[in-house]
Amino acid sequence: MSAVPSPRPVTAPEFRAAKARGAKLAVVTAYDYTSARLCDEAGVDCILVGDSVGMVVQGHPTSLPVTLDEMIYHTRCVMRGARRALVVADLPFMTYQVSPRQAVRNAGRLMKEAGAHAVKLEGGVRARDAIRACVDAGIPVMGHVGLTPQSVHQMGGFKVQRDTEQLLADALAVEVAGAFSVVVEGVPADLGAKVTGAVGIPTVGIGAGAGCDGQVLVFHDMMGLYPDFKPKFAKRYADLGAAIKAATEQYCREVREGAFPAAEHTFR
Ligand code: KIV
Repeated sequence: MSAVPSPRPVTAPEFRAAKARGAKLAVVTAYDYTSARLCDEAGVDCILVGDSVGMVVQGHPTSLPVTLDEMIYHTRCVMRGARRALVVADLPFMTYQVSPRQAVRNAGRLMKEAGAHAVKLEGGVRARDAIRACVDAGIPVMGHVGLTPQSVHQMGGFKVQRDTEQLLADALAVEVAGAFSVVVEGVPADLGAKVTGAVGIPTVGIGAGAGCDGQVLVFHDMMGLYPDFKPKFAKRYADLGAAIKAATEQYCREVREGAFPAAEHTFR
């Protein structure tokens, strides 16, 4: 939102208002206290407790197995580390699709039991009733259109989405339903820019080009911690995976050679 982040907590209305000021929004995922604290101190505007936890933390091939109780647990951990960032928690697969009542009940659990500031759910036109019901209950909602990972089997894989009409209809439906922002995932850059120009709420892109109002990256992709899949759009800002491996190899060597613990690590 600005070069020097203010220490004041970011609210959903402020996040939304950033678009009118032309301020770009920096969003990152986190699933635990330590990474949330580091990202918060680094000045991100929003931490997304994504259901990508199913892949990068739990080791599943998709986010589908993630449960609401697991999301509550991870969101609680993140809330303890976040001071300034807006914390948005994902509603996992099949916790909001059944009915708007189900959506409100489960979004309410993320807010009440975990302390989330807002929730995110996937889908455009087909999710509008769920979004509206949550918003009417006082729960800020971030939408998610384009490549929606919870529909991976329906889409036939994690594929770039190119249907302009559908994407525009979905993003507008999310806005009209009352969401304060919308993630746009896995679309060509010109389409990302088109959607951004068509809606009044901020678009947060992931693999949607530079024309979005903000960007989101998965923490493990950004830090080089997830070797199973390297998406084209995920810039690696650090290679912590290699650093962790090298440090652990050194630890193993030193334990085996008797070099650790040394005198300074020993009580007398
Ligand atoms: O679950 C997640 O991390 C997400 C982001 C990829 C937007 O939904």
